[in-house]
Amino acid sequence: TATEDSAVVNSPAPLSNLTQEELKKIAAYKAVEFVESGMVIGLGTGSTAKHAVARISELLQEGKLKDIIGIPTSTTTHEQAVSLGIPLSDLDSHPVVDLSIDGADEVDPALNLVKGRGGSLLREKMIEGASKKFVVIVDESKLVKYIGGSGLAVPVEVVPFCCDFTRGKLEELFREAGCVAKLRMKIGSNGGDATPAVTDNGNYVVDLYLERDIGDLEVASEAILRFPGVVEHGMFLGMATTLIVAGKFGVTVKDR
Ligand code: 5RP
Repeated sequence: TATEDSAVVNSPAPLSNLTQEELKKIAAYKAVEFVESGMVIGLGTGSTAKHAVARISELLQEGKLKDIIGIPTSTTTHEQAVSLGIPLSDLDSHPVVDLSIDGADEVDPALNLVKGRGGSLLREKMIEGASKKFVVIVDESKLVKYIGGSGLAVPVEVVPFCCDFTRGKLEELFREAGCVAKLRMKIGSNGGDATPAVTDNGNYVVDLYLERDIGDLEVASEAILRFPGVVEHGMFLGMATTLIVAGKFGVTVKDR
Protein backbone atom coordinates (compact mmCIF):
# COMPACT_ATOMS: atom_id res chain seq x y z
CA THR A 1 0.00 0.00 0.00
CA ALA A 2 0.96 3.67 -0.15
CA THR A 3 1.93 3.54 3.49
CA GLU A 4 4.13 0.47 3.67
CA ASP A 5 7.41 2.38 3.47
CA SER A 6 6.27 5.32 5.55
CA ALA A 7 7.49 6.17 8.99
CA VAL A 8 4.87 5.97 11.68
CA VAL A 9 4.89 9.38 13.27
CA ASN A 10 3.35 11.07 16.21
CA SER A 11 1.28 8.09 17.17
CA PRO A 12 3.34 5.16 18.38
CA ALA A 13 0.27 3.49 19.82
CA PRO A 14 -2.16 1.77 17.45
CA LEU A 15 -5.42 3.63 16.92
CA SER A 16 -7.53 0.49 16.67
CA ASN A 17 -10.20 1.70 19.08
CA LEU A 18 -10.97 4.90 17.19
CA THR A 19 -13.92 5.51 14.90
CA GLN A 20 -13.46 6.49 11.25
CA GLU A 21 -14.47 10.04 12.16
CA GLU A 22 -11.77 10.20 14.85
CA LEU A 23 -9.17 8.91 12.38
CA LYS A 24 -10.16 11.63 9.88
CA LYS A 25 -9.69 14.24 12.57
CA ILE A 26 -6.26 12.90 13.53
CA ALA A 27 -5.10 13.03 9.88
CA ALA A 28 -6.49 16.57 9.51
CA TYR A 29 -4.80 17.87 12.67
CA LYS A 30 -1.49 16.35 11.56
CA ALA A 31 -1.77 18.20 8.22
CA VAL A 32 -2.41 21.52 9.95
CA GLU A 33 1.03 21.19 11.55
CA PHE A 34 2.36 22.16 8.08
CA VAL A 35 0.51 25.51 8.20
CA GLU A 36 2.64 28.55 9.05
CA SER A 37 1.66 32.16 9.77
CA GLY A 38 1.37 34.31 6.65
CA MET A 39 0.47 31.42 4.35
CA VAL A 40 -2.22 31.30 1.66
CA ILE A 41 -4.03 28.01 2.31
CA GLY A 42 -6.29 26.01 -0.02
CA LEU A 43 -9.17 24.79 2.14
CA GLY A 44 -10.49 21.41 1.02
CA THR A 45 -14.01 20.04 1.00
CA GLY A 46 -15.55 17.03 2.74
CA SER A 47 -15.87 15.34 6.09
CA THR A 48 -12.08 15.04 6.57
CA ALA A 49 -11.10 18.49 5.30
CA LYS A 50 -13.68 20.17 7.52
CA HIS A 51 -11.62 19.11 10.58
CA ALA A 52 -8.57 20.86 9.10
CA VAL A 53 -10.57 24.05 8.49
CA ALA A 54 -11.86 23.97 12.08
CA ARG A 55 -8.34 23.40 13.44
CA ILE A 56 -6.90 26.34 11.45
CA SER A 57 -9.63 28.56 12.89
CA GLU A 58 -8.87 27.33 16.42
CA LEU A 59 -5.15 28.12 16.03
CA LEU A 60 -5.98 31.58 14.64
CA GLN A 61 -8.21 32.28 17.63
CA GLU A 62 -5.53 31.11 20.04
CA GLY A 63 -3.03 33.43 18.32
CA LYS A 64 -0.79 30.47 17.39
CA LEU A 65 -1.31 31.27 13.68
CA LYS A 66 -1.48 34.77 12.20
CA ASP A 67 -2.23 36.36 8.82
CA ILE A 68 -3.65 33.24 7.17
CA ILE A 69 -5.63 33.66 3.97
CA GLY A 70 -7.91 30.75 3.05
CA ILE A 71 -9.01 29.87 -0.48
CA PRO A 72 -12.10 27.65 -0.18
CA THR A 73 -12.64 24.84 -2.70
CA SER A 74 -16.45 24.88 -2.50
CA THR A 75 -19.38 26.97 -1.39
CA THR A 76 -19.79 24.59 1.57
CA THR A 77 -16.22 25.18 2.74
CA HIS A 78 -16.64 28.91 2.06
CA GLU A 79 -19.62 28.93 4.44
CA GLN A 80 -17.75 26.95 7.10
CA ALA A 81 -14.69 29.23 6.89
CA VAL A 82 -16.83 32.40 7.06
CA SER A 83 -18.68 31.04 10.09
CA LEU A 84 -15.31 30.34 11.79
CA GLY A 85 -13.88 33.77 10.97
CA ILE A 86 -11.08 32.64 8.62
CA PRO A 87 -10.09 35.49 6.22
CA LEU A 88 -10.76 34.37 2.64
CA SER A 89 -9.68 35.21 -0.87
CA ASP A 90 -9.58 33.56 -4.31
CA LEU A 91 -7.16 32.56 -7.05
CA ASP A 92 -7.73 35.82 -8.95
CA SER A 93 -6.25 37.77 -6.04
CA HIS A 94 -3.84 35.04 -4.83
CA PRO A 95 -2.76 32.95 -7.83
CA VAL A 96 -0.07 31.13 -5.84
CA VAL A 97 -1.24 29.00 -2.93
CA ASP A 98 1.38 27.95 -0.36
CA LEU A 99 -0.36 24.83 0.84
CA SER A 100 -3.65 23.03 0.25
CA ILE A 101 -5.14 20.42 2.58
CA ASP A 102 -7.92 18.15 1.33
CA GLY A 103 -9.39 14.67 1.60
CA ALA A 104 -9.73 12.12 -1.19
CA ASP A 105 -12.03 9.27 -2.16
CA GLU A 106 -9.22 6.99 -3.32
CA VAL A 107 -5.43 7.08 -3.13
CA ASP A 108 -3.34 4.65 -5.21
CA PRO A 109 0.24 3.55 -4.35
CA ALA A 110 1.70 6.34 -6.54
CA LEU A 111 -0.41 8.94 -4.67
CA ASN A 112 -2.76 9.47 -7.59
CA LEU A 113 -6.20 10.38 -6.28
CA VAL A 114 -9.87 10.17 -7.04
CA LYS A 115 -11.76 13.18 -5.76
CA GLY A 116 -15.16 14.70 -6.30
CA ARG A 117 -17.65 12.39 -4.68
CA GLY A 118 -18.63 15.55 -2.85
CA GLY A 119 -18.97 17.23 -6.26
CA SER A 120 -16.27 19.88 -5.77
CA LEU A 121 -13.61 18.45 -8.04
CA LEU A 122 -13.26 21.41 -10.43
CA ARG A 123 -12.54 24.07 -7.81
CA GLU A 124 -10.42 21.58 -5.87
CA LYS A 125 -8.32 20.82 -8.94
CA MET A 126 -7.89 24.52 -9.78
CA ILE A 127 -6.82 25.49 -6.27
CA GLU A 128 -4.77 22.38 -5.44
CA GLY A 129 -3.12 22.59 -8.86
CA ALA A 130 -2.01 26.15 -8.02
CA SER A 131 -0.51 25.01 -4.70
CA LYS A 132 3.18 24.65 -3.94
CA LYS A 133 2.34 21.84 -1.54
CA PHE A 134 -0.78 19.65 -1.53
CA VAL A 135 -1.33 17.54 1.58
CA VAL A 136 -3.93 14.79 1.25
CA ILE A 137 -5.59 13.54 4.42
CA VAL A 138 -7.40 10.21 4.60
CA ASP A 139 -8.31 7.35 6.85
CA GLU A 140 -6.95 4.00 5.70
CA SER A 141 -10.22 2.96 4.00
CA LYS A 142 -9.30 5.27 1.07
CA LEU A 143 -6.16 3.34 0.04
CA VAL A 144 -6.66 1.34 -3.17
CA LYS A 145 -4.49 -0.83 -5.41
CA TYR A 146 -5.66 1.01 -8.53
CA ILE A 147 -7.84 4.00 -9.40
CA GLY A 148 -11.49 2.88 -9.42
CA GLY A 149 -10.51 -0.09 -7.24
CA SER A 150 -12.81 0.77 -4.33
CA GLY A 151 -15.87 -0.07 -6.41
CA LEU A 152 -17.01 3.52 -6.04
CA ALA A 153 -17.06 5.93 -8.96
CA VAL A 154 -14.60 8.19 -10.74
CA PRO A 155 -16.62 11.44 -11.08
CA VAL A 156 -16.58 13.60 -14.21
CA GLU A 157 -18.04 17.13 -14.24
CA VAL A 158 -19.98 17.71 -17.49
CA VAL A 159 -21.99 20.58 -18.94
CA PRO A 160 -25.77 20.04 -18.63
CA PHE A 161 -26.28 20.39 -22.41
CA CYS A 162 -26.96 16.90 -23.85
CA CYS A 163 -25.41 15.31 -20.77
CA ASP A 164 -26.76 11.88 -21.72
CA PHE A 165 -24.79 12.07 -24.97
CA THR A 166 -21.61 12.81 -22.98
CA ARG A 167 -22.48 10.09 -20.45
CA GLY A 168 -22.79 7.54 -23.29
CA LYS A 169 -19.45 8.61 -24.81
CA LEU A 170 -17.70 8.20 -21.45
CA GLU A 171 -19.21 4.75 -20.91
CA GLU A 172 -18.09 3.69 -24.39
CA LEU A 173 -14.57 5.01 -23.76
CA PHE A 174 -14.04 2.61 -20.84
CA ARG A 175 -16.14 -0.30 -22.11
CA GLU A 176 -13.16 -2.67 -21.84
CA ALA A 177 -12.89 -1.84 -18.13
CA GLY A 178 -16.58 -2.77 -17.71
CA CYS A 179 -17.56 0.86 -17.20
CA VAL A 180 -21.09 1.86 -16.26
CA ALA A 181 -21.55 5.65 -16.43
CA LYS A 182 -24.41 7.19 -14.44
CA LEU A 183 -25.63 10.76 -14.21
CA ARG A 184 -25.47 11.68 -10.52
CA MET A 185 -28.95 12.39 -9.18
CA LYS A 186 -30.13 14.20 -6.10
CA ILE A 187 -33.09 12.75 -4.24
CA GLY A 188 -36.02 15.15 -4.31
CA SER A 189 -36.99 16.69 -1.00
CA ASN A 190 -40.26 15.46 0.57
CA GLY A 191 -40.41 12.47 -1.73
CA GLY A 192 -40.24 14.57 -4.90
CA ASP A 193 -38.63 13.31 -8.12
CA ALA A 194 -34.86 12.98 -8.23
CA THR A 195 -33.10 15.67 -10.29
CA PRO A 196 -29.50 15.89 -11.54
CA ALA A 197 -27.05 16.97 -8.84
CA VAL A 198 -25.73 20.42 -9.70
CA THR A 199 -22.15 21.44 -8.89
CA ASP A 200 -21.05 24.83 -7.51
CA ASN A 201 -20.33 25.75 -11.13
CA GLY A 202 -23.83 24.92 -12.40
CA ASN A 203 -22.71 21.67 -14.06
CA TYR A 204 -23.70 18.00 -13.69
CA VAL A 205 -21.63 14.97 -12.63
CA VAL A 206 -21.30 11.65 -14.47
CA ASP A 207 -20.01 8.87 -12.21
CA LEU A 208 -17.87 6.19 -13.87
CA TYR A 209 -18.15 2.81 -12.15
CA LEU A 210 -15.26 0.62 -13.26
CA GLU A 211 -15.03 -3.16 -12.96
CA ARG A 212 -11.37 -3.32 -13.87
CA ASP A 213 -8.20 -1.20 -13.93
CA ILE A 214 -8.31 1.40 -16.76
CA GLY A 215 -4.55 1.15 -17.30
CA ASP A 216 -2.48 4.23 -18.15
CA LEU A 217 -4.10 7.05 -16.18
CA GLU A 218 -2.55 9.89 -18.21
CA VAL A 219 -3.95 8.35 -21.40
CA ALA A 220 -7.36 7.92 -19.75
CA SER A 221 -7.28 11.51 -18.49
CA GLU A 222 -6.53 12.94 -21.93
CA ALA A 223 -9.21 10.77 -23.53
CA ILE A 224 -11.87 12.00 -21.06
CA LEU A 225 -10.90 15.65 -21.48
CA ARG A 226 -11.10 15.34 -25.29
CA PHE A 227 -14.94 15.23 -25.15
CA PRO A 228 -16.23 18.80 -25.57
CA GLY A 229 -19.03 18.20 -23.03
CA VAL A 230 -16.54 17.36 -20.28
CA VAL A 231 -15.41 20.14 -17.95
CA GLU A 232 -12.99 18.18 -15.72
CA HIS A 233 -12.56 14.76 -14.13
CA GLY A 234 -11.84 13.66 -10.59
CA MET A 235 -8.52 11.88 -11.18
CA PHE A 236 -5.80 14.02 -9.58
CA LEU A 237 -2.64 12.64 -11.14
CA GLY A 238 0.78 13.53 -9.74
CA MET A 239 -0.69 16.43 -7.76
CA ALA A 240 -0.43 15.28 -4.13
CA THR A 241 2.93 16.14 -2.58
CA THR A 242 2.24 14.57 0.83
CA LEU A 243 -0.15 11.88 2.04
CA ILE A 244 -1.25 11.58 5.64
CA VAL A 245 -3.09 8.38 6.54
CA ALA A 246 -4.67 7.63 9.90
CA GLY A 247 -5.47 3.99 10.54
CA LYS A 248 -5.28 1.13 13.00
CA PHE A 249 -1.48 1.16 12.60
CA GLY A 250 -1.17 4.83 13.65
CA VAL A 251 -0.54 7.93 11.55
CA THR A 252 1.82 7.85 8.59
CA VAL A 253 3.16 10.75 6.55
CA LYS A 254 4.50 10.02 3.10
CA ASP A 255 6.08 12.50 0.68
CA ARG A 256 5.92 11.81 -3.04
C1 5RP B 1 -15.12 16.49 -2.46
C2 5RP B 1 -13.92 15.63 -2.33
C3 5RP B 1 -13.61 15.12 -0.97
O1 5RP B 1 -12.32 15.53 -0.61
C4 5RP B 1 -13.67 13.62 -1.01
O2 5RP B 1 -14.96 13.27 -1.44
C5 5RP B 1 -13.36 13.02 0.37
O3 5RP B 1 -14.40 13.35 1.24
P1 5RP B 1 -14.48 12.79 2.72
O4 5RP B 1 -13.32 13.38 3.46
O5 5RP B 1 -15.81 13.27 3.21
O6 5RP B 1 -14.42 11.30 2.65
O7 5RP B 1 -13.22 15.34 -3.26
O8 5RP B 1 -15.34 16.84 -3.80
